[in-house]
Amino acid sequence: MTTQRTARPRHYLMCRPSHFTVTYQINPWMDPAKPTDTALAVLQWERLYALYQELGHTVELIDPVPGLPDMVYSANGATVLDDRVLVANFRHAERKDEAAAYQAWFEQRGYQVVHAARHTNEGEGDYLVAGDRILAGTGFRTDLAAHAEAEQVLGAPVVSLTLVDPRFYHLDTALAVLDDGEVMYYPGAFSPESREVLRELYPDALLAEEADAEVFGLNAVSDGRNVLLPETAGNLADRLADRGFTPIGVDLSELLKGGGSVKCCTLELRHAPAAPGGAR
Ligand code: ARG
Repeated sequence: MTTQRTARPRHYLMCRPSHFTVTYQINPWMDPAKPTDTALAVLQWERLYALYQELGHTVELIDPVPGLPDMVYSANGATVLDDRVLVANFRHAERKDEAAAYQAWFEQRGYQVVHAARHTNEGEGDYLVAGDRILAGTGFRTDLAAHAEAEQVLGAPVVSLTLVDPRFYHLDTALAVLDDGEVMYYPGAFSPESREVLRELYPDALLAEEADAEVFGLNAVSDGRNVLLPETAGNLADRLADRGFTPIGVDLSELLKGGGSVKCCTLELRHAPAAPGGAR
């Protein structure tokens, strides 16, 4: 018998890719020599934005800043738990200025803590909230020292996981949280020690194959029932369906040229506070 899955309404923050292009290379997917189509990126992104709302979720927007083409990957801007926000501190110079934009966005909305990070961390790219714990990636972008800072600022225990394959440079390219206690991941992206940690924490996890991981199948967003993932990850979609989830394939081929897909474009806000003066 397949498990009945229940969706919980979510609250997301997204950034329209109005200035999207690939002019530098900070991950193996980016190739500045390959042309990008900003209008197509916007069109594909609009579909995802509409889809979330059709599914009953609330989506807020942060204004895109000219000259920050990667800002569309809003997952990297911060990590939010209740009314505590740990703002990103980007590894590469090309993205550093995004942090101020995210910091300002959260400050204007009356979050209790909006912490400018001391250590290098790339928000929900490397921090995935899974029930009561935070799964934290390191190896390429977020510093290991940042994990302790996250634990302190967000007030939840952090489990450190080491990424070893440069194609999967952020945790959210290798692992997705499907439900509070359920994840899917591609084992090959992790060090042997981290694979062991994951096996112990999630003995029933859905293990993805390389072919699905390679098309960013794990860069997925789940509301507990619907799982939005790249439409090219067909095998993974079938296996999610076997488990009672409703997979929904999305085409974000343009944004893949920057090394991101569904999850990268989606930052989850959890139990966000109402702003003083009703600014939200
Ligand atoms: N070009 C961006 C970078 O390399 C892509 C970020 C993708 N975001 C993510 N959450 N994995 O930083």
